[in-house]
Amino acid sequence: TIYPDAKTASVVVAQRIAKLIRSKQAEGGKAVLGLATGVTPIAVYKELVRMHQQEGLSFKDVITFNLDEYFPMQASSAQSYVTFMHENLFDHIDIAPENIHIPDGTLPQDAVAAFCLNYEKQIEDLGGLDFQLLGIGRTGHIGFNEPGSAPNSGTRLVTLDNLTRSDASRDFGGKENVPTKAITMGIGTIFKAREIILMAWSAKKAPIVKKAVEGEISGDVPATYLQLSDHVEFILDEGAASEL
Ligand code: GLP
Repeated sequence: TIYPDAKTASVVVAQRIAKLIRSKQAEGGKAVLGLATGVTPIAVYKELVRMHQQEGLSFKDVITFNLDEYFPMQASSAQSYVTFMHENLFDHIDIAPENIHIPDGTLPQDAVAAFCLNYEKQIEDLGGLDFQLLGIGRTGHIGFNEPGSAPNSGTRLVTLDNLTRSDASRDFGGKENVPTKAITMGIGTIFKAREIILMAWSAKKAPIVKKAVEGEISGDVPATYLQLSDHVEFILDEGAASEL
């Protein structure tokens, strides 16, 4: 679906999420949301905060799982996805701290595999993700599933692509400061979500959006795996859709 601009599209996505939260609440259940970081979802989170503050949208019954985190990464670091999520969403809504899940960048490396298995189990025990929000990196990554990721991959420690580290270098004051690894939900983890929305804004994303939507399905561009799912929607602005 193509919208004239990112702001309009972001409001639509926030409304979809709010509708899901409210319908789960009406049934006495909890919405289990997979969340993303990056510049792309910021306006969605801003609109959800506005709905909380002005329309009484409550996150008391919402459980969240973030896609990824750099590794290693201190939670208190300015570049951590923990900091990002708190600044852009969690600090401004009524979500319970125990309902927030973000891959732990502070673990010793030999504890990561068990952590990842438990991350998957926590999602499964809740009945799976109702909804997954995605951005897309210029390598075609979703989460931090870089080229070469398997379609059935689970949450795991991965090595970041050179281009991904270059794109992140501004946030870290130089590429040499960008971690070489990350913990990410897998393609398989993402696929199990009952509804998936991938968002992309601006002409900068147009070439990778074209590959993801129209290209051959291949591990070289992990987002192409989304073509195999019947519950994925790409939500784009005109710039990101300009090469389709
Ligand atoms: C990072 C995140 C991805 C995100 C991508 C695009 O690599 N791990 O989840 O989709 O960046 O970022 P942006 O939205 O800033 O373009």
